Amino acid sequence: MHWTLLTLWLRLVSYICAANVDPAALDACPGYNAQNVKTEGGTLTADLTLAGEACNVFGEDLVALSLRVDYETKDRIHLKIVDANSSRYEIPDSVFPRPSSQAVSPDSASIQFNFTTSPFTFSIYRSSSQEVLFSTASHPIIFEPQYLRVKTNLPDNANIYGFGEHTNPFHLPTDNMTLTLWSRDSFGIPTGTNLYGNHPVYFEHRTTGTHGVFLLNSNGMDVKLSNTAGTSLEYNVIGGIMDFYFLAGSESDPAEVARQYAEVVGLPAEVAYWTFGLHQCRFGYKDFVDVAGVVSKYAAAGIPLETMWTDIDYMDRRRIFTVDPQYFPMNRMREIVDFLHSHDQRFILMTDPAVAFIPDDPDYTPYHRGKDLNIYLKAVNGSDFVALVWPGVTVYPDWFHPNVTEYWTNEFLDFYDPETGLDIDGAWIDMNEPANFCNLPCDDPFQQAKEQNLPPPRTNPAPDPNAPIFQNDSLSQLRKRDDILNPPYAINNAAGALSSKTSMTNTVHANGLQEYDAHNLYGSMMSIATRAAMLARRPGKRTLVITRSTFAGIGAHVGKWLGDNVSLWEHYRFSIAGMLNFATIFQVPMVGSDICGFSGETTETLCARWATLGAFYPFMRNHNQDTSPSQEYYIWPLVTQAAKNAIDIRYRLMDYFYTAFHQAHTDGTPVLHPLWFKYPKDANTFPLDLQFFFGDSILVSPVTEEGSTSVDIYLPDDIFYNFTSLAPIEGTGSTVSLTNVDFTTIPVHIKGGVVLPLRVESAMTTTELRTKDFEFVVATGQDGTASGSLYIDDGESIEQSQMTTVDMSFKEGKLDVKGTFDFPTGVNVARVRFLNVEKAPKKVKVNGKNLGHSRIEHDATNKVLDVIVDVAFDKDLSVELS
Ligand code: NOJ
Repeated sequence: MHWTLLTLWLRLVSYICAANVDPAALDACPGYNAQNVKTEGGTLTADLTLAGEACNVFGEDLVALSLRVDYETKDRIHLKIVDANSSRYEIPDSVFPRPSSQAVSPDSASIQFNFTTSPFTFSIYRSSSQEVLFSTASHPIIFEPQYLRVKTNLPDNANIYGFGEHTNPFHLPTDNMTLTLWSRDSFGIPTGTNLYGNHPVYFEHRTTGTHGVFLLNSNGMDVKLSNTAGTSLEYNVIGGIMDFYFLAGSESDPAEVARQYAEVVGLPAEVAYWTFGLHQCRFGYKDFVDVAGVVSKYAAAGIPLETMWTDIDYMDRRRIFTVDPQYFPMNRMREIVDFLHSHDQRFILMTDPAVAFIPDDPDYTPYHRGKDLNIYLKAVNGSDFVALVWPGVTVYPDWFHPNVTEYWTNEFLDFYDPETGLDIDGAWIDMNEPANFCNLPCDDPFQQAKEQNLPPPRTNPAPDPNAPIFQNDSLSQLRKRDDILNPPYAINNAAGALSSKTSMTNTVHANGLQEYDAHNLYGSMMSIATRAAMLARRPGKRTLVITRSTFAGIGAHVGKWLGDNVSLWEHYRFSIAGMLNFATIFQVPMVGSDICGFSGETTETLCARWATLGAFYPFMRNHNQDTSPSQEYYIWPLVTQAAKNAIDIRYRLMDYFYTAFHQAHTDGTPVLHPLWFKYPKDANTFPLDLQFFFGDSILVSPVTEEGSTSVDIYLPDDIFYNFTSLAPIEGTGSTVSLTNVDFTTIPVHIKGGVVLPLRVESAMTTTELRTKDFEFVVATGQDGTASGSLYIDDGESIEQSQMTTVDMSFKEGKLDVKGTFDFPTGVNVARVRFLNVEKAPKKVKVNGKNLGHSRIEHDATNKVLDVIVDVAFDKDLSVELS
């Protein structure tokens, strides 16, 4: 039979098999009996033997398994089930370093492991309340070479968040929903399909507490949420082992589970201060004149542009580590970079993983150097695996190869050399699922390259090379698996077969791993190598690497953008859920969507609204596609104004947000919070995903519909303050309609109970911003007190020798600002603004001394008391009202 037909036939059979398995039949599988159970301290081990006649749903049931359960910390249980007779694929430690275990006693643990022996089922419950959090009761585990099933019962209407990457509501529907994890180049980020990244973790929130479950497994999987015959969550995984981390979370503070998850996957990398500035990008800048023009036009429009980006357009025939000599000549590109740097601005370029396969062109040295080091991913016959990406036929670096870091770092050092090449400030890495345009069966990629016109010739005339710019200033023991191209259980991969539009699952990595197992790690591994290369380029400095494909734990290294969205209101709205998933659950806080939308055609009003929402993405970048019209913020007056207004707020809040990032880096506290994180007992907040907290205390409630100038927002029972007028608003746990929300504004509220550090005014660059004075806004909560913190350092060194760390607290009429002031900010505290103050006080003392009346102003309408303090911000400060 012809190869294609055979593949199709196999695929059809596997679909039929997958579709035909009724959940009840899986529950009728025999499961395993636990024998030889041993406990020692916080460790339990047992042998699991098949409890009856094999059910062989997608292969042969393994007959003997080993179970090990460790109470690793007071709040974490690690449960591992492996094949007792043979080693199977596990994610290498080099990619995912396991968290260390403190080996605690179950008596001191806040969650407990319980089990039945025949058949073996297990549950995790809270020690304090005995509440069951996870239970496989009546759902026997199934362990076959290419199919692993674990299913837990859930409470009705369970509040489940996480898994991903996906385009679905943040609060996951439990009615027959499948979440598929398999990296895919997913143009248009379609709802309900697998996308670029893989994060097999969820948090479940109940009014009694929040806990988390992480399955450390990189194989393809379908996670099914269902409410047929009771609500349940079922893992269907096509390889690897069962490697679960159960996180107790907390009964009162949802952020606790995020911190516990960070202990497992690693704390997020600290980013440089400048990375919070505005980034501008576009696929389709035609030449260097075009790129420089954008920089100039931003300046002319008075919109702060921190970082200019260039997509693959700059490359010579789309080959990485090259510039097009006519359209983006090196000398002119260097001029642009110099210009940016001399204006305290930055520059970032795209680097794809795929290397153009051009063995007979000796001039394309990046290919030959990789070939000499033999670092390319191998096809099953041992030759370099060829794929089809932007430059045409390509090969992929194998990130498991021992020489690959050397290769990648050297290419970065060479091409991005500040003296002779392009001095980039950060790196953008893309297509690292890895993406492949070759349609299966990819028998003749050269022919497909021709058919797809790759690389496409340029159609615009080359610019004058002297055109003026800037005029206005090993796993050897792989268990035999029947079919790694079309495994018997077919996950719901939206691209079709596992290898469709990506590397073949039978390609082999240098350490013997097959792409079948390691596929979901490709983007993460490229991220780690790229970060290493950037660190070699700029030793000692934090860098910005933005990737498309991710795996659990990648936030410890890089940031992420949410891929190819569309200029649709729906995607504007979904961006919030996507961002909350990454920032709040997955521990990848440096995240954002393409503002105004990547593909399609944005509108003035959508882009205006998106510019304001995007100002509250941790990673704020306007980017779109070559076939879409330009959408830089200066193109429409409305968008210009909207961007300026929102960026003004963001920049003034930058130190507050930088402090939140520092906190995240220190202990895993998320930088964004869904409302239920702050109001865990208020069930109205559980489904909300169109409002969120930026940092701890800034509530962002964007308008979410086309043409609308109003929005219904939920305000929990708490005090809030309008960010612009600073007037208080009592939240009553109900919906409030905001009207007349101009297209250039976004509703932002301060949650009562915080002392906010703000810069008194914004600036055109983050460097300039750091020269602006501070002010403190004392926004008291329901109990009349407020507190906050501020962290300042040089903004870019990995190791800091001088840090300023300040705590602010207000109670009984007195604000105390206390801390260590080792980093010289060089600025003043200009004023303190006390909110919700009915009457001007008789006296105000600053550092114990009475202040003259001319320095005190009371706005009775908005109840704001301004105190001009104007003292150097280099020592403790107190302001007392009486
Ligand atoms: C796909 C990326 O998702 C997109 O952002 C980029 O513009 C294109 N590749 C071209 O590099």
